[in-house]
This record gives sequence, structure tokens and C-alpha cells, in this order.
Amino acid sequence: MRRKLVAGNWKMNGGLAANAELLAGIKAGLDNPRCDIAVCVPSPYLSQCAKDVAGSAISLGAQDVSAQDSGAYTGETSAKMLLEFGCRYAIVGHSERRSYHGETDEAVAQKTVRAIANGVVPIVCVGETLSEREAGKTNDVVGRQVDAVLAAIGADGLGKIVIAYEPVWAIGTGKTATPEMAQEVHAEIRAKLVKLDAQAGEKVQILYGGSMKPDNAKALMSMADIDGGLIGGASLKAADFLAIIAAA
Ligand code: 13P
Repeated sequence: MRRKLVAGNWKMNGGLAANAELLAGIKAGLDNPRCDIAVCVPSPYLSQCAKDVAGSAISLGAQDVSAQDSGAYTGETSAKMLLEFGCRYAIVGHSERRSYHGETDEAVAQKTVRAIANGVVPIVCVGETLSEREAGKTNDVVGRQVDAVLAAIGADGLGKIVIAYEPVWAIGTGKTATPEMAQEVHAEIRAKLVKLDAQAGEKVQILYGGSMKPDNAKALMSMADIDGGLIGGASLKAADFLAIIAAA
């Protein structure tokens, strides 16, 4: 059985006081969790949050990572820098970065490679838009996004990544993919991983993201290939995040 991972993506939310309160609330409510837990916080708060999660079951993550190791790349943060703040994870290729910052499949693949090379676990996001789904292109789009990453990391990289399937139309909209719809795509992704390496492919955690909430988390995470969640809005409320952790 794959261990589940519940990861919060705070996006551009929070502040010193709010972060401290949220993390204190999550820590107070954790009762022997049986899944992996992470919070992916805005970069300026990595130092604060690293201190707040130290010694707890919560791992720290960033929301992006540079495809470069160092140099003249204004505004970027390298995987080495993230490691210095105790980041275990970095989200890579979130649809908000693909659409607002023009990140291509190739750029996402390069970021994934840099993260792995530096010992940071990339949470690689893939997912189709509503028009792509309605045009029957879901598997093509997700397949292309996954293939670009697999081509760059090879079979050796499989043990070092997490994948998150996040249908763009389900993000922040309150519309969730049904467990069956999500499982269908997760199974397609799993088939690609297993084709590259049967053993390693079975071990990769594939998360679902897109309006995962306490009331739908259990049904989603009980599907065969849904190994946890990447949670946006519901990760900003300790009670909701804890309920999703309990569901896992
Ligand atoms: P919501 O849970 O707010 O829909 O966000 C999902 C997401 O984008 C996580 O990365």
C-alpha cells in the first residue's frame, strides 16, 4: 500500500500572525497521523514556517523552484536555497504558473530535474482545462504533460517525485471531479509510470487536487490510484485540513 500524502498549497495567502495561528491549530489537532503531511508556503515565510513545523509530523514545501542552480535569475529561488530552509517538497508546474507565467512542459520538466538533483521532492502538477475536457482531450493533455517530465527524469527519477492531478476547472471553483473521473485519469498516469519502471511506478504517490474538502476527501482518497490530496482553500483552515488528514 502506498502511504498517502496530504499537502496544503497556501498559494499567495497568509501572513506572520495568520501562519503561526494556522500551524499551531494544525499541530494541536494532529493525533498520530498515518499519512505524510506537508504545507507549501509562500517563500518569504519559509523561515518562519520551518521553525513552526520543526519536530512535528508536518513537512515544509515551497510553491515553485527555479530550473537553474544560481546566477542572474531575478526573482527565482533555487532548490539549494529551499533545502537550507528545510523544504522537503516543492510544487512544480502548478496550473496557475503554467497559465499566468507561461510555464511550458519543458520548463516544468527542467524544474523537476533541478529539484530532484538537489534532493527536493517535486510535486509535479498536471491537469486539463474545461475546454480540453469537453473536447475529449483530457488524456492527451495530461499524457503530454506527464511524458515531458518522464522523458527528462528517466526511470531513475521515478522514486523521487510526487505527481498531482489537478483538473484546472476544479481548482478554487467548488466543482470537484467525481472519484471515478479522477481515478480514470490517475490510472492513465499510473500506466505511464509503470511502463517506464514497473516497481518504481507502483510506488509513486499521485495526489488529486481541485476543491478537495472534508466532505469529499474520503471518497476521492479511497480510489485505487489516489494517494492523497493537494489542497488549496481547505488547507487555510486548521479544522478542514485536519479533517482531510483524518480522511486519509
Ligand atoms: P482548491 O483546493 O482551492 O481548489 O485548490 C487546489 C489547488 O490548486 C491546489 O494546488
